[in-house]
Amino acid sequence: MKITVNDKVLEAAPGQTILDVAREAGITIPTLCHIEGLPPTGACRMCVVEDTKTGKLIPSCSAPAWEGMSVHTHSPKALEARRTIVELLLANHPDDCLYCVRNGSCDLQNYSEELGVRQRRYSGDKSQYNLDISSPSIVRDPDKCILCGKCVRVCEEIQGVSAIDFIGRGSKAHIGCAFEEGMNVSSCINCGQCIMVCPTGALTEKSNTAEFLAALKDPEITVVAQHAPSISVSIAEDFGIKAGTDIVDKMNGAMKRMGIEYVFPTSFSADLTIMEEAAELVDRVVNNKPLPMFTSCSPGWVKFMEQFFPDFMPNVSSCKSPQQMLGAVVKRIWAKEQGLDPKKVFHVSIMPCTAKKFECDRPFMRDGKVRDVDAVLTTREFAKVIKMFGMDLASIPGEPSDNPYGDRSGAGKIFGASGGVMEAAIRTAYKMITGEELENLDIKGVRGFEGIKEAELKIGDLTLKAAVASGLGNARKLLEAVRDGKKTYHFIEIMTCPGGCIAGGGQPFSNDSDAIRSRMQALYQIDAGASLRRSHENPSIQKLYKDHLDKPGSHAAHKMLHTKYETREVLK
Ligand code: SF4
Ligand code: SF4
Ligand code: SF4
Ligand code: FES
Repeated sequence: MKITVNDKVLEAAPGQTILDVAREAGITIPTLCHIEGLPPTGACRMCVVEDTKTGKLIPSCSAPAWEGMSVHTHSPKALEARRTIVELLLANHPDDCLYCVRNGSCDLQNYSEELGVRQRRYSGDKSQYNLDISSPSIVRDPDKCILCGKCVRVCEEIQGVSAIDFIGRGSKAHIGCAFEEGMNVSSCINCGQCIMVCPTGALTEKSNTAEFLAALKDPEITVVAQHAPSISVSIAEDFGIKAGTDIVDKMNGAMKRMGIEYVFPTSFSADLTIMEEAAELVDRVVNNKPLPMFTSCSPGWVKFMEQFFPDFMPNVSSCKSPQQMLGAVVKRIWAKEQGLDPKKVFHVSIMPCTAKKFECDRPFMRDGKVRDVDAVLTTREFAKVIKMFGMDLASIPGEPSDNPYGDRSGAGKIFGASGGVMEAAIRTAYKMITGEELENLDIKGVRGFEGIKEAELKIGDLTLKAAVASGLGNARKLLEAVRDGKKTYHFIEIMTCPGGCIAGGGQPFSNDSDAIRSRMQALYQIDAGASLRRSHENPSIQKLYKDHLDKPGSHAAHKMLHTKYETREVLK
């Protein structure tokens, strides 16, 4: 069908909204409550456009395009309506931009600027709620909330958690957790997906930047950093570089310039995780231990399982995540080899994930009183630190990662995408079971953005049945099917965030589907071009086992690289 937008005739497909058609034509209409991929709620009316025939304002995010319609997206009437909406929101908003984490990345601030709001036309009573800093990962500032409802929808409809909801009515309406308690006792699994959709500073990550900066300037402390596989293909976006550009060397260079002494890629320890996880899978299959085995490297999923599916606890791999494996190896092996007191080593981890802040403080993630990972900074936090040091990633000279943990395989790199852990584990499990190398390393059935993916692979006499879920709402469906006996698998990968770590809750806010797609493509390209593509080929991993850990699944490896889980009682 044909519709006219801003005097231009455009083609519209049945079911498309006016917003969809306009966006395809490169026309930007501001939105506050719209979430790509979810049905519209029409709550904010920021997206109104003017029907040129009737003069009526239509919410473009929910109104379907119809044959012959004609709208103006930025008519004086539409602009005035949007300006009034922003002014009314600002009437009950703290004038806090200079001190706000979202200063410079806030939709409300941007729209206010774009619409030319220059004075307070309405004033009302300001909300005065308590800041919720109880969570290790998420900070809630309800005073900055504009009640768009996006966080509630993402938490319930995408993540299947429902940790937050609307409470109260009218002027008392606000977002909160069950019984108005803090996030720390709620069912929140720390994924940060609510932060990614929040248009203001009402939801942000709990920052660990101050601890990191304090360690950097302490002459007695040796600072060691790791960076997750997806960071090098996402952080560039915060510096205006094209999404999916791999800038790992420049990132290393920036880290060294700010005073980090050693930089190890987490994809090194992703290879280590694969060695342990593949060995565990083989052990479970051969010795009739609980199957399916679930991956354990996504901490939001682990907490979700502990709260909602504790009956699957024996099925979850006991392997620590790559972050925690590298933390343990650095503090418990490397520091001693260097003659350093582990208490004087500060291990900072740059992650795409807010839940990693929770994970590093779990029990068993320390040696006595010494934590394996001291601080987790999200991609966004770390990009800000780089800017604080006056560096521009585009122009900084690159540097290699450090030894002895600088090598990685392509398998270790694809951990950042949903299906990547499964693919990497199969490459190594194949070798462990058959003694031969898997020839076709691209296991396409587990790649891509589908919420639930399945694959079968012949490994010797075994036909391995595998499934991959990303987004915990999808995981919930898969788990229920397994629990009900409707589906049977040997191995299931679960990633908390839809699409995997490339779309984690700590990633840059330029998080549209095109950017996320580019990040995923970049990881698979890096793998395709890698000289080593199987974790067990990584020479530094082989040396680590030879010198310290004996073999995958050994007593020494278990002591350092494996963990335990606990049933969690939370407010639901
Ligand atoms: S949420 Fe946005 S508008 Fe509100 S104080 Fe923060 S930056 Fe300013
Ligand atoms: S962090 Fe995740 S689980 Fe927690 S409130 Fe936000 S979306 Fe829900
Ligand atoms: S916390 Fe953010 S996402 Fe949630 S309703 Fe408020 S403004 Fe919207
Ligand atoms: S974005 Fe359309 S009503 Fe909110």
